[in-house]
Amino acid sequence: MKINFLSRIQNKIFLSLMLAAILPIGYFGYNSIKSTRNSLIDDTLRKMYLNVFAMGKDMDNHLKNAKGDLLYLKSSAPLEYLLDAMEFNDIASFTYWRTLLEKEFSNLIEQKNVYLQAGFLSRDGDEIVLVVYDMSRPIILPWKSLHNQRESGYFRMAAELSNGEIASLPLRSYVVKGLNLSNIALMRYITPVYNRNGKWMGMIYIDVVGKHIYNTVKMSIMDRAFKVFLVNNKGFYFFNPEWEVEENLLTASDSPENIGEVYSRDVASQILSGKSGVIMDDDKNLFAYMPVFPTEMDKNFYYTIIQMYPKNHISGGANDFEKLFLITVLSAILLTVFMGIIISKMLTNPLSRLKRGVQLIGKGNLDYRLDIKSGDEVEDVAVEFNNMAEKLKKYSRNLEEKVEEKTKKMEDYEKQLIHSEKMASLGLLAAGVAHEINNPIGIIVNRIECLKMENKNGDIPEKIVKDLDTMMHHAMRVSKITGNLLSFSRESSHEFKSQDINKILEKVLMFVEDSITAKGITMEKYLTMRLPFVFGSSGGLEQVFLNIVHNAMDATDGGGRIKVETKYTIGHSEGEARRISNETQDSSPSFTQGQNDKNKNGGFVNIIISDTGDGIPHEYKEKIFDPFFTTKEIGKGTGLGLSISYGIIKEHGGEIKVDSEVSKGTTFTVLLPVMAE
Ligand SMILES: Nc1ncnc2c1ncn2[C@@H]1O[C@H](COP(=O)(O)OP(=O)(O)OP(=O)(O)O)[C@@H](O)[C@H]1O
Ligand SMILES: [Mg+2]
Repeated sequence: MKINFLSRIQNKIFLSLMLAAILPIGYFGYNSIKSTRNSLIDDTLRKMYLNVFAMGKDMDNHLKNAKGDLLYLKSSAPLEYLLDAMEFNDIASFTYWRTLLEKEFSNLIEQKNVYLQAGFLSRDGDEIVLVVYDMSRPIILPWKSLHNQRESGYFRMAAELSNGEIASLPLRSYVVKGLNLSNIALMRYITPVYNRNGKWMGMIYIDVVGKHIYNTVKMSIMDRAFKVFLVNNKGFYFFNPEWEVEENLLTASDSPENIGEVYSRDVASQILSGKSGVIMDDDKNLFAYMPVFPTEMDKNFYYTIIQMYPKNHISGGANDFEKLFLITVLSAILLTVFMGIIISKMLTNPLSRLKRGVQLIGKGNLDYRLDIKSGDEVEDVAVEFNNMAEKLKKYSRNLEEKVEEKTKKMEDYEKQLIHSEKMASLGLLAAGVAHEINNPIGIIVNRIECLKMENKNGDIPEKIVKDLDTMMHHAMRVSKITGNLLSFSRESSHEFKSQDINKILEKVLMFVEDSITAKGITMEKYLTMRLPFVFGSSGGLEQVFLNIVHNAMDATDGGGRIKVETKYTIGHSEGEARRISNETQDSSPSFTQGQNDKNKNGGFVNIIISDTGDGIPHEYKEKIFDPFFTTKEIGKGTGLGLSISYGIIKEHGGEIKVDSEVSKGTTFTVLLPVMAE
């Protein structure tokens, strides 16, 4: 299949523009998406880490506050006086200070709203003061509901602490689904109590509920995708937002849930390492985590706050960028197509116009010119194209002229051909007539001569002798005419051999010179020396020149001029030469063929005989070579002279031409082919 050249150019332009536009966009776009995704991950992790860090600090502060509150209770004045009363067994002041201490405990619990219980135990393990927070108010337990806690772990723990030390005792190791962290006691802070003499007198404790911590982590659920968990160092959940979301539908479960069951071992072990950090190499999620230690003393128990974010949410931002990138690429493609169309139109338009120009010229519209001002090679081609069109136009005009000229010449040749044929048939006719007349005339002349010879004695009367002379004169004239007719029809034979034209002319002029000068006409001769020979018959040629000179004499009055000139020309046009050979072939093939061969080298002897006589009227010009055409008075001219000359010159393979202007003169030119060496 033939692909259009112009559309191939357009396709190439499209392709290059596409490559030029799309490749950089693709390359930079891909890199930008990648780095955007990475920086989004970095940003998210930083945000997550800051978040867990803040929550951890908050939780830490909260627990520190609890410890502060415990120390505050420990150093309260009522406790100090109560210890004195206990030391001295002062029942009255014991009761008094105990009541005040109860007040102190209950005030703190009411104010802080984050402690479930606070208590004071004597060194024997008896509960002296116990305030419990219930239904949003503190309840001071009456004396009778107090117990001895000597065997309890926390009491024994306190016995081992030195003055001012605080121990923590986790009250829960997990929170199950359906249980709310804010309502349960998480941690018990314990500290021993010494009196002013440094004697161990018992212990006090407060139980911290998860309310504050719950609020902290719950508040962090701003974005559903960001999940904050609270687990202990074993990975058991204390807070799981998934339980919060559908709180009402969830049924409480007894079995604890562990972070290790949800995430991979790697993730779980990093999170539960007791250090803070981030995890980004998990397949699905990003993590930030921060441990919170309830006491400085015990590093074996801690909580970990975990923030988790699914990676596919991050690509949300990157996806937005991807969309933007896609739109950019699409716009770039559209722009490229648009630009491609414009640029290729700009480039191929001159070519299309060039193509159209060539087509128009092909259809013959040679006047079409291109007007392309592209300032490049195409413009050069357009200029060349216009030059070519101009040349073509000139060439075609020349061609037309030449065809016209040739046509005219062909018409001339045709006329001449018709003329030749006419001559040939007339020749035949003339020959027949001459034969028929020649013999009787010969007999008549013979008889007249016999009669005249018999009159030697003068027997025949004078009058009859005169009549015989007259008869003789006219019979001779008839004989001459038939002779001429035979010449015209080539019945008379001429011997062909090499001839010096100048010599023949000299001989002819010798005959007529006297009569010419007698008529008062000037005779001029310009015979070129050493003319090449021509192959011909001297008799025939003499007859031709004599007739032409006679005609000139007849046409010229006294005071006029007859000029005879000979010259040799090589440059006789080829066409002309060919024409001559054609004509001669028609009339006398056997001879002229050979004659023409002899003139292979070209070259003609020109015999130019001109006069200053009457000239030939235009309407006669075509007739003068016709037999019997004469303008001379009866008895003076037969009208055979030129037609015989014509035949003779043709026999010689030559040409006879006339050029005349009325009352200015006539020029006859005879061209005879030069004999080959
Ligand atoms: N040089 C000339 N000037 C003017 N007319 C001429 C000249 N030569 C020929 N003619 C004209 O051409 C005619 C034909 O000439 P052509 O020689 O054939 O016959 P002719 O001279 O009339 O008779 P003939 O030659 O038989 O004596 C002439 O009658 C004359 O009208
Ligand atoms: Mg004549």
